[in-house]
Amino acid sequence: MPNPKSQSSNRKILVLHGPNLNLLGRREPETYGRVTLDEIDAALQETAAGRGAELRVLQSNHEGALLDAIHEAMDWADGMLINPGAYTHTSVALRDAIAGVGLPAVEVHLSNIYAREEFRHESLIAPVCVGQISGFGWRSYVLGLEALLDHLVDLEESER
Ligand code: DQA
Repeated sequence: MPNPKSQSSNRKILVLHGPNLNLLGRREPETYGRVTLDEIDAALQETAAGRGAELRVLQSNHEGALLDAIHEAMDWADGMLINPGAYTHTSVALRDAIAGVGLPAVEVHLSNIYAREEFRHESLIAPVCVGQISGFGWRSYVLGLEALLDHLVDLEESER
């Protein structure tokens, strides 16, 4: 059995934060907690550094900017960690972009979307992702990054 933790070196990961996530820390703290996006990014950078992976991070409130970043990732990234925010439930374009570039993606949510309003129960993004982590607050991101890096190691092992 491979030891994934020791084999993540040089993996390049695009981290995408969708709309309204720039407000974390001040936005509905009872739902999303008080941790800011900068603090989440710092936790991700620490996790990535511990595993020798490199992150490029983008937050945008604009669907097109997220699409452009996904397209560009085709030329440099090994995988993608994404919290699509409300676009989770609405964006066929985001889903098509992830499917189109063919990079392994992990979807994360701070809140448990299945324990909230019904319109949040459907993710258009999840079917084109390796998996989804939802409901662990800022830790969803760290768990998602670990899972993505482990998945990339498994992929490499299976291609050998
Ligand atoms: C969210 C859940 C979405 O339903 C919501 O629109 C968000 C945040 C989360 O991280 O819990 O903006 O993606």
